[in-house]
Amino acid sequence: MLAELKGKTALVTGASRGIGAATAVALAKAGCARVAIHYNSYPEGAHEAAAAVKAAGAVADVLQGDLGTPAGIRAFRERMPEADILINNAGSLVQRAALTDFSEELFDRVMDLNFRSAWFLAQQAAPAMVRNGCGVIVNLSSIAARNGGGPGASIYAASKAAVACATKGMAKELAPKGVRVNAVSPGTVDNHFHQVFSTREMLDNVIRQTPAGRLATDEDIADVILFLCSDAGRYVHGQTIEINGGMFMV
Ligand SMILES: NC(=O)c1ccc[n+]([C@@H]2O[C@H](COP(=O)([O-])OP(=O)(O)OC[C@H]3O[C@@H](n4cnc5c(N)ncnc54)[C@H](OP(=O)(O)O)[C@@H]3O)[C@@H](O)[C@H]2O)c1
Repeated sequence: MLAELKGKTALVTGASRGIGAATAVALAKAGCARVAIHYNSYPEGAHEAAAAVKAAGAVADVLQGDLGTPAGIRAFRERMPEADILINNAGSLVQRAALTDFSEELFDRVMDLNFRSAWFLAQQAAPAMVRNGCGVIVNLSSIAARNGGGPGASIYAASKAAVACATKGMAKELAPKGVRVNAVSPGTVDNHFHQVFSTREMLDNVIRQTPAGRLATDEDIADVILFLCSDAGRYVHGQTIEINGGMFMV
């Protein structure tokens, strides 16, 4: 339990599975009083995460929203609860496609889901945090932002680089008002994301190149997000923390 999180409210987007679900549970276990769990297409997962949040002693709210279009983002903004902590976690590669095959529709969806949603949800959340003189926003970047991404993931990588860059801008603007904004940048996590977008062969290849000798778990990432939400991270502003088992050290 972390005393500083006692009574705090959190909103975690994309918390129906993976890193988001693990983060929602970690925040509840650490003492948050209320955790809002956002999902898009997997209500069963969102309710499972809500049950784990409740078991940890927090109130759980479940909210649906497609954050992959400007209209969906606008609609979600109108319904999202005020929170002391916002974790902009919802994201996806959407589809692997090479430059020559990449449609404008796919370009927009990847950028909207991974970048536009983080920016405009932060815009919605920030005023209450500023009024309270405190708040934490954590955005999800990716190792792809540093290495350009795997096959067919250039625009996903670019969207995550945009997240890391905007994190710095948000932090500069909000730090003087008591709000901390940071990002985490996972390497390859052994979860649903790569079950959909990667082959076993691709993952084994990543393991071979990873000094730590394994892929990340959802909890490996959630624990660093929790650190950024805690007082232990009180002087950390505008950073993107790489969590990749030593895969990328520059
Ligand atoms: N897995 C990795 O190796 C890895 C590496 C670097 C960065 N990341 C980033 O980490 C974050 C979490 O990913 P994950 O690994 O936990 O993936 P995941 O297990 O596939 O979970 C993705 C989450 O995002 C939500 N989501 C997907 N499309 C959405 C949409 N159109 N609108 C709203 N929500 C949507 C999903 O909701 P539903 O399931 O309810 O549709 C789900 O809760 C993402 O931003 C991802 O880009 C992941």
